[in-house]
Amino acid sequence: MASKGYKTIRDKVRKLVKEACYSPTNKFKKTAWDYHILSVVEYSLKLGRKLKADPEVLELAALLHDYSGILDIDLYKDHHAHSARLAEEILSRLDYPEEKTRSIQKAIFNHRGSLKLKRRSLEEKILASADAMTHITELADMFYLAYKVHGYETREGAEWLKKKLERSWKKIMKEGRELVKDDYKAALKIIARTQKI
Ligand SMILES: [Fe+2]
Ligand SMILES: [Fe+2]
Repeated sequence: MASKGYKTIRDKVRKLVKEACYSPTNKFKKTAWDYHILSVVEYSLKLGRKLKADPEVLELAALLHDYSGILDIDLYKDHHAHSARLAEEILSRLDYPEEKTRSIQKAIFNHRGSLKLKRRSLEEKILASADAMTHITELADMFYLAYKVHGYETREGAEWLKKKLERSWKKIMKEGRELVKDDYKAALKIIARTQKI
């Protein structure tokens, strides 16, 4: 059952995160909202429906999972921990139920595939998968990140991206891989063309 006033709470959180993404101080640029956060929400809810996980926990965790790094690049290194802390502050201000907030915090804390974290709940596993799935399906934005934000040249950017996509693929649960396997194949094929020289 939906928590009391959920839609209002969700809309407030959406507004907060969208504004942070669109702020000129966001080092990941405003595309983080359209091509990362919204995609992570979409895949989280899709997998959640399939696996019968809690949609509220997934939606709020997906919206807030990178929030601290978007607000302040200096927090990026530990953004899983800072975003979990900020989620608690935001959700308690909005009177969101404590128990669900704890599940959201856990999912946010454990979303980072680069850290070998133990994921126990279904929501934790789904968020980490959805986060990795977007790297594969939002390929144009990944090119933007490689060439514009990181400033790589063609070949080194492609190598960086290939490694990133391979790492992302490994992090995705089998139900998620099923959804993005064609995109993964296509992405690797496009990237492989830069290695032929
Ligand atoms: Fe993250
Ligand atoms: Fe993310």
